Amino acid sequence: MTPTTRLISQGAEAKLYLDEKNNTISKERISKGYRHPKLDESIRKSRTKKEKKLLEKAKKLAKINTPEVLNKDVGKKIDNRKKKDFKVEMEFIEGDKLSNTLNSYKKEKQSEVMQQLGKETSKLHENDIIHGDLTTSNTILKDKKVFIIDFGLGFISTRTEDKAVDLHLIKQALEAKHFQNWQFLFEEFQRGYESNNQSQAKQVLERLKKVESRGRYKH
Ligand SMILES: Nc1ncnc2c1ncn2[C@@H]1O[C@H](COP(=O)(O)OP(=O)(O)OP(=O)(O)O)[C@@H](O)[C@H]1O
Ligand SMILES: [Mg+2]
Repeated sequence: MTPTTRLISQGAEAKLYLDEKNNTISKERISKGYRHPKLDESIRKSRTKKEKKLLEKAKKLAKINTPEVLNKDVGKKIDNRKKKDFKVEMEFIEGDKLSNTLNSYKKEKQSEVMQQLGKETSKLHENDIIHGDLTTSNTILKDKKVFIIDFGLGFISTRTEDKAVDLHLIKQALEAKHFQNWQFLFEEFQRGYESNNQSQAKQVLERLKKVESRGRYKH
């Protein structure tokens, strides 16, 4: 850590440090005492690797706005030992976290932002990238662009069901945190989602109805 580095968030799985001088974030997977040390290392390592891969895929394949990964996985061993890499170093996206700011935006801006988020989500899904934790806490608005962060629960899947669950999650997040006009916000999201790939949208939105009728995936 350098003197310009400070802890900005601590979740169940990771600590996040902001380096203000270099404008970078370090997301470090923390050790869990209840796991066997070998297993603990392997879990932290594989989750770190997975998150980096998804962030990179989201940027390169889906061409969406995500933070640039700075410590790319080169797969090299150091001194012939396996590299202990438990952190994602990435660009700091300095902007509005939507969970904090969306409610205060004017209707027009809310509409623009939600449509953009819907379109970006559709692009992820076209590339079979499932975010896994699509909420307004994982979206940042910077210079009128919506950035999606936190691919810690993400995975690759071609299944319509998995894509529908992503939509279900954002819908629930809107209902919980932005209840004043969550229906409007979700309609705008949906409009953006449909604008990118109509046939995918038709299938996924159809499946969403089924997911909801089953009442699963509730937090
Ligand atoms: N690249 C970034 N730029 C700006 N802020 C970030 C960035 N990455 C993370 N943050 C901030 O740190 C918070 C926590 O990060 P993140 O969502 O990745 O982890 P988490 O939710 O604690 O972990 P996980 O869901 O993987 O267990 C975010 O809500 C956001 O405020
Ligand atoms: Mg998060």
